Parts: sequence; C-alpha cells; structure tokens
Amino acid sequence: MKRPSRTILCTLVSLSHLICPSSGAALSSRDDLLTCLSNVQNLNTISPSSSSYNTDRLSFNRRFDYRPAAIAYVNSVEQVQAAVKCGASSGTAVVARSGGHSYAAYGLGGQNGTLVVDLSGMTGLTLNNVTGEATAQTGLKLGQLAQGIWDQGRRALPHGTCPYIGIGGHTAYGGMGFYSRQAGLLIDRAVRAEVVLANGTLVTAAFDQNQDLYWALRGAGPSFGIVTAWTYATLPAPDNIGYEINYAPAASAKDGFINAFNSFQNFARNAPSTLAMALAIVPDGANKLVFSLSGNYYGSLADFNTTIQPLLAQIPGASLTSKQLNWIESLADVAGSLSVTSPEPADNFYAKSLMTKDLISNSSIASFVDYMYTQGTAENLGLEWFVEIDLYGGEIARASSDVSSYFNRGAFLTFQFYASAKPLTAPYPASGITFLDGMHDSVQVDNQAAYPNYIDPSLSASQWQSQYYGSNYERLSSIKSVVDPQNVFRFPQSIGSNSGPNNPSSPNTDPSTPNPSASSSPASSGGLQAVARPTMQAVLFAIMTIFVYSF
Ligand SMILES: *[C@@H]1O[C@H](CO)[C@@H](O)[C@H](O)[C@H]1NC(C)=O
Ligand SMILES: *[C@@H]1O[C@H](CO)[C@@H](O)[C@H](O)[C@H]1NC(C)=O
Ligand SMILES: *[C@@H]1O[C@H](CO)[C@@H](O)[C@H](O)[C@H]1NC(C)=O
Ligand SMILES: *[C@@H]1O[C@H](CO)[C@@H](O)[C@H](O)[C@H]1NC(C)=O
Ligand SMILES: *[C@@H]1O[C@H](CO)[C@@H](O)[C@H](O)[C@H]1NC(C)=O
Repeated sequence: MKRPSRTILCTLVSLSHLICPSSGAALSSRDDLLTCLSNVQNLNTISPSSSSYNTDRLSFNRRFDYRPAAIAYVNSVEQVQAAVKCGASSGTAVVARSGGHSYAAYGLGGQNGTLVVDLSGMTGLTLNNVTGEATAQTGLKLGQLAQGIWDQGRRALPHGTCPYIGIGGHTAYGGMGFYSRQAGLLIDRAVRAEVVLANGTLVTAAFDQNQDLYWALRGAGPSFGIVTAWTYATLPAPDNIGYEINYAPAASAKDGFINAFNSFQNFARNAPSTLAMALAIVPDGANKLVFSLSGNYYGSLADFNTTIQPLLAQIPGASLTSKQLNWIESLADVAGSLSVTSPEPADNFYAKSLMTKDLISNSSIASFVDYMYTQGTAENLGLEWFVEIDLYGGEIARASSDVSSYFNRGAFLTFQFYASAKPLTAPYPASGITFLDGMHDSVQVDNQAAYPNYIDPSLSASQWQSQYYGSNYERLSSIKSVVDPQNVFRFPQSIGSNSGPNNPSSPNTDPSTPNPSASSSPASSGGLQAVARPTMQAVLFAIMTIFVYSF
C-alpha cells in the first residue's frame, strides 16, 4: 500500500513568493527598462536575450509559462530601490520573487512583460539574543529561517512546513503551520518590515510607524511594496510529540470513511490549542482512499496519549504512531529535511482552497466522500491528487479579523484540493480543472472563503476580493491608492486589480490594470468573520508579540 507519509504535507502546507505584472509593455518602454537596469551598479539583469532567460523564468508551477520583461537579481536594498525605480519610470509592472512558489506564478508576474525583482541573493539573518527579535531578509527560505534561529538561539516561529518556500510571500499572505494554534500565523509574529515603496523610497513599517502600511503588508504585502526584511518576535523552541494516525478502509468502504471524517471534525472542534492537526486524503487504488491525520502536540507524551484517546476510539482500524522530538527534529521530521541545497522538484498543478468556520454537514461529507471515491480513484484519471484539511483556531482566531489585512481568522478548517499532472512539460489537462472544481464544489459551506497563500487564479475579481479579504478589502484599496498611486506593483490579483479568471486551459482574459481604482467594488460579503474583539486587544496583542521573550 502506498502510505502517505507526514512529508506529503510538504507539497501541501505553505506558499511563497512576493509579487507583480504588466501591460504587454511596448518595445520602447522595454528598451527604457533594460537601459535603466543596465545603469544600476553591479546588478545582474537577465533579459529575454540572455542565454539563461528560459531557465530563470521557469515557475514552480509549470502550468504557467510567463515571459518577464527582465529578471533583476538584487543583492542589496539599494539595488531593490534602483530596480523598482526603473520599473516605475518605464511603466513596467514590478513584482518580487522570494521563493518563487506562488501557485499562480505571481512571482513571475502572473502575466507577460513584468520586471521580476529576484531576492534570492538577500539571505541575511540575525537573532537579537536580548529582545528575541530575528531580522530576516526575504530571499531566505523557511528551512533556512527555522534552522538559523534554532542555531543562533534555540528559537522558533510558527510557519508552514516546506523548507523551499520563500519567507516573503509566506509571511505576506498569512503563514499558517502546525505551531499556529499555539503561536499565531507568521504575520502575527512579524513586528517590523523594511520595505521599498513604488517610488523607490525605503521605509520601516511597524505598529507605531507607517501603521496603515504595516496593516496592509500583513495579509496583502506584494501589492504595496517589496519587503526586503521582516523582523519577527521569536519564541523559545518547544519540544513536542509528532504523531500520525492512519486509516485505510477496504475498497468501497465509504461508510467507514465518512465516520472517520465525522469523528475527526467533531474531535477537532474541541481540541486543545496544544494539538495541531492536518488531515491528508489520498487515493490508493481502485475504490480506495487513505485517511492520514498528522501533527504535533506541544506537551508531554502522557498528556498526548490521554488527549488523542477519544478520537482513536472512534475510528476502528486506525493506527497511531508517535514520537517525542525537539523543535528542530520535529520540523525536519515533517519536511523530510530542512536543507535547501539540492534542486527542488517543480510541479504542474491546479489547486483550490476552502475555509469554513462551521462543521461540515453530514450531507456534504457524504457528497464529498462519494465524489472522491467515484471520480478520484479511477485508474485512467491521469492525475495525482490530495486533499489536505488543516485545523485552524486557537491563537489564530484570538485576534479580530481587522487586526491586520489578513481576514479569515475565524476559520475552523481550511481545505486544500490539489491535482498534479505529469509530465511537467505537457499542457495541464482540462479534465484536471473539471475534476478539482467538482471536488471543491462537493463541499458545501455557507460563506465562501479562501486562503491567499493557496492563491487561485481561477477566481473572479469579486470572488477573490471577498474570499481573501472580506471587509478588509475597502481599506486595502484606499491604502493602495496612497502608497502606490501609479500601480507599479500590479499582477492579476493585486489590490485594485479587477482581473477575472485565468486558467491556461481556458482563454486568457487577463487585462492588466494600469491604475488601481479607489472606487473598485469593495467586497462586503464572503470571508469569515472572526469573533470581534475590542481594538485595545489588538494593541495589547501587538505589544505582547514584541516584548514576550524568555530563554
Ligand atoms: C506570453 O508571451 C508569449 C510569447 O510572446 C506568448 O506565446 C504567450 O501567449 C503570452 N502569454 C500570455 C498569457 O499572454
Ligand atoms: C548574545 O550575543 C552577543 C553578541 O553576539 C554575545 O556576545 C553573547 O554571548 C550572546 N549571549 C547569549 C546569552 O547568547
Ligand atoms: C503513550 O502511548 C503509547 C502507545 O500509543 C505507549 O507506547 C506509551 O508508553 C504511552 N506513553 C505514556 C507516557 O503514556
Ligand atoms: C451526522 O451523522 C452522525 C453519524 O455519522 C450522527 O451521529 C449525527 O447525528 C448526524 N448529524 C446530523 C446533523 O444529522
Ligand atoms: C514616496 O511615496 C511615499 C508613499 O506615497 C510618500 O510618502 C513619499 O513622500 C514618496 N517619496 C518621494 C521622494 O516622492
């Protein structure tokens, strides 16, 4: 039997990049851009005539194939400033690329003709051992950040599991991981940003400095500037229990599977915040699915045993494995390895997410499970797919939904539906889009909401604006028109853009939007409302985040 290991979550959990695209720039402005970039001292610029252009523009998701106007490999904040000015003065859209994992290739612009500012040469990391603050340049990847703050002081941050994911986009759009129910999203630990604005100015954004910008960066950063370094309030690294519960019912045993799902969600609803849970569902041959629950428990093995017992008792046939690990061992255990030295495999995939604050109804579980069995286990499917369901709540939900621009804090569960096609170089099959859309639609929820780090280019403008940002969208639009009035940082789902769906197997309808309209329709419905809390709490939260530090 093909057993989904804990490392499957690596393809799953996180996301990266920073961003921005263009308007099929005319030749003259393209020339202006390249001339301007060539005048920046020591800047390594790749243009369409460079021999490495076709490899440098490859995206992690090979479903997308974009041709940037140029890729600037920056090594300093001054070079970022100069490159952004070149983009702005030539009318070229500018995006940043941190790890380059945007599901929609927004790190390459998400359309043709963009200036990509590649941050991979900026990997500075310093931990202040008095304040506990770590300052990390945004060319770092999650594996390097985690290993670095561990090595420098046995410190930890909440974030996703995949070591190759860049910290830029992962922070910008939330940054959920196993430790988040204890310690919040990565943006909740992000106390300060060093950011290059559209006019090339370098500023600091923090809770007491450029507050609107600070608010906007934590949830929608790539539309507002290029963050060159984040400062995070780190935490002492906790030992924990790593566990996995596997259940592989016999062929066609839908009832057992439905029962397992129901047991999981009812247990998860009241689980302590010391318990992290992610459910992975994968096909395993004709009419067979595997249910694989994994996570970490931040406490003793004895307490874990007691905590997990009621769930195990409800899933006959499930097997549990668990082990006691220190912080860095547990990260490596989930990721496979934290090293980012070997070339990372790419993928050719389509993914969607769905966040719900409610339990999934029995009828919806039945249709979801039925869909997976009937549509997802056929031998000739030609797709490799999984569903990952992360448990939210705890510290994530403690702050109100407007404490930062990241909106969907009230989520109970977040689903990710993911299907890859082989080979990498073949066009993604239209049947993959239909299959995944059908699976997403088989789960019925009251309010549609989505996780922006699983960015989904097939959403319409009104869908992505409301599903990612809810009632925060209006404020984001007005900050955008102040901070980036020329819309230099633009890409298909940037703030102020009204771009519609983009799926390569359907006609591309993606006009770029030269100017953000402050009047663009605010998204008032959709999204998940977290429990509203007084603003004072938000302030206390920010202050605590900064000062709580102990060895
Ligand atoms: C990008 O440019 C290439 C080459 O000019 C072209 O084949 C492709 O259709 C363009 N893609 C989009 C989305 O416009
Ligand atoms: C803190 O950092 C300073 C300077 O790097 C170093 O000299 C000192 O030993 C460190 N203290 C601890 C407790 O690690
Ligand atoms: C926890 O449960 C496992 C079996 O799942 C057992 O081997 C172990 O001894 C238990 N540990 C404690 C401290 O209860
Ligand atoms: C859902 O199904 C379970 C049995 O699997 C049952 O105990 C529960 O009452 C049902 N809930 C509703 C709302 O029908
Ligand atoms: C750059 O843009 C910011 C934000 O709009 C503005 O406050 C600042 O004055 C601008 N700087 C220059 C030199 O124009």
